[in-house]
Amino acid sequence: MTILSQTALLHELDAVVEKNLDRHLSVAKEWFPHEYVPWSEGRTFDGPLGGEAWVPEDSTIPEVARTALIVNLLTEDNLPSYHHQIATLFGRDGAWGTWVHRWTAEEGRHGTAIRDYLTVTRAVDPVALERARMTHMSNGFHNAHDEEMLHSLAYVSFQELATRISHRNTGKVTGDPRCEALLARIAADENLHMVFYRNLLGAAFELAPSQAMRAVADVLADFQMPGNGIEGFTRKSVAIALAGIYDLRQHRDDVVVPVLRQWDIFKVTGLNADGEAAREQIAAHLDDLERAASRFEEKRDARHARQAARG
Ligand SMILES: [Fe+2]
Ligand SMILES: [Fe+2]
Repeated sequence: MTILSQTALLHELDAVVEKNLDRHLSVAKEWFPHEYVPWSEGRTFDGPLGGEAWVPEDSTIPEVARTALIVNLLTEDNLPSYHHQIATLFGRDGAWGTWVHRWTAEEGRHGTAIRDYLTVTRAVDPVALERARMTHMSNGFHNAHDEEMLHSLAYVSFQELATRISHRNTGKVTGDPRCEALLARIAADENLHMVFYRNLLGAAFELAPSQAMRAVADVLADFQMPGNGIEGFTRKSVAIALAGIYDLRQHRDDVVVPVLRQWDIFKVTGLNADGEAAREQIAAHLDDLERAASRFEEKRDARHARQAARG
């Protein structure tokens, strides 16, 4: 079986990109960030305008919801780095270029909407948030396989779905129906992004099954959320997992497994030796995830029981 070069893959997938771009444009709904923000609740801050500084009592949402909102927003904020990566890899011409720009514009809406919401409702410390944004964006973003197109397509297929779940569950824990409505709206966009990338890699599975399988195996082996460069990310992601916003169980059952099922990876034929080996790695990885997820759930249950016993 011939191994296709990046250029050949890009060219071969051209028609699929075009078809899925049309599909995306026909199902994506226009929406406006400003309509989701309760502007009349806003108050001027301290500084040049002489308003009131933020104090922790201003925020009425649980601390873990604040943590998750900050992680989600900083993740959206790093868009220039993501744009750079996909524009470099996919190019800016033809249907690929149209997609890259359209996707960037949609993602840009997410950051705008969440920031406006958090600032107006005083949900988070705006000074700490701005400093965290500066630090995070100053580091930029690199995905682990940024030179390889199929790896990048595999990564974004999982990552967009992971982001969807994270936004949706963050909305739930805020206990604020308006914030939940905004995050549900954003989550719907992330789902369409996932579908686009997943369909592309699906086509790659027909074109170059072993290369696609290798890409998926490699990406799953070292998958990290795009916000992993955020200061204190490990501590934050533990809090997020303990709150059930994004944990290993959801990662396995709601992100990895459904995407793999769409590609029907266990029925793919025509694999070479490396393709078969990659598929076995994926199967082993699913088992590892299952064990780790169960272990985490047991620990979390025990922890919650201890907390309940303490009252
Ligand atoms: Fe987004
Ligand atoms: Fe997205």
